Amino acid sequence: MEQFIEFNKVKKIYKMGEVEIEALAGVDFSISKGEFVIIAGASGAGKSTILNILGGMDTPTSGKIMVEGEDISAYNEKELITYRRYDVGFVFQFYNLVQNLTAIENVELASQVSKNPLDIEKVIADVGLTDRKNNFPSQLSGGEQQRVAIARALAKNPKLLLCDEPTGALDYETGKSILKLLQDTCRNTGMTVVIITHNLALTDVGDRVIRVKSGLIDSVTLNETPMDVEKVGW
Ligand SMILES: Nc1ncnc2c1ncn2[C@@H]1O[C@H](COP(=O)(O)OP(=O)(O)OP(=O)(O)O)[C@@H](O)[C@H]1O
Ligand SMILES: [Mg+2]
Repeated sequence: MEQFIEFNKVKKIYKMGEVEIEALAGVDFSISKGEFVIIAGASGAGKSTILNILGGMDTPTSGKIMVEGEDISAYNEKELITYRRYDVGFVFQFYNLVQNLTAIENVELASQVSKNPLDIEKVIADVGLTDRKNNFPSQLSGGEQQRVAIARALAKNPKLLLCDEPTGALDYETGKSILKLLQDTCRNTGMTVVIITHNLALTDVGDRVIRVKSGLIDSVTLNETPMDVEKVGW
């Protein structure tokens, strides 16, 4: 059966003057629709490179990436823009909020480019920011800004939600509630969610765990009975 996402011999070489850095050395993996996927691995292993290529923000040097039957590695720039706009929600490690828009306006902005957005007030409530929604990013804590970034990605109701260390800036309880929201969204809506983390305790909550090492896939594990986020501790 054709998988929802397929990486096939994907290489990424960054050229910096005379020096070549092989960030991905031939990566193969697949992801099924609606899975909650954890990508783990050491710093510099290639995790963000994989996510950026999957999100259409970077292109591979060679290899093929299929998403729902479409070869996104063959997309031209215009097709990539459409893909990023309608199909992908992205949560960056460092939020990337628009500084002169309030929390709710940041979320609104993203939902406006979606064909099928979720209710903004509900998403804001789900991330626990209802009483902070009229604050500008500079008036929010790091964790609150991260929650705006997550609300913004969710509000688009994308078919693919990609999160690069989404809880890196959050305290334990807030981080856990955000991960629970992501897991619940995945289970309740069928959205495919891919999360990069350094936190090895989270490998128990993934339907699929992809371990990356030195630009290669070290292992892929399927959890028959993934744990609920609220039941894991770290
Ligand atoms: N734009 C770039 N130009 C040159 N080298 C890059 C670029 N982006 C990443 N690299 C290099 O590619 C390798 C993989 O980087 P990547 O950001 O994917 O790692 P990572 O697994 O996400 O690490 P971390 O956990 O620290 O975020 C690293 O050696 C990095 O220095
Ligand atoms: Mg990274």
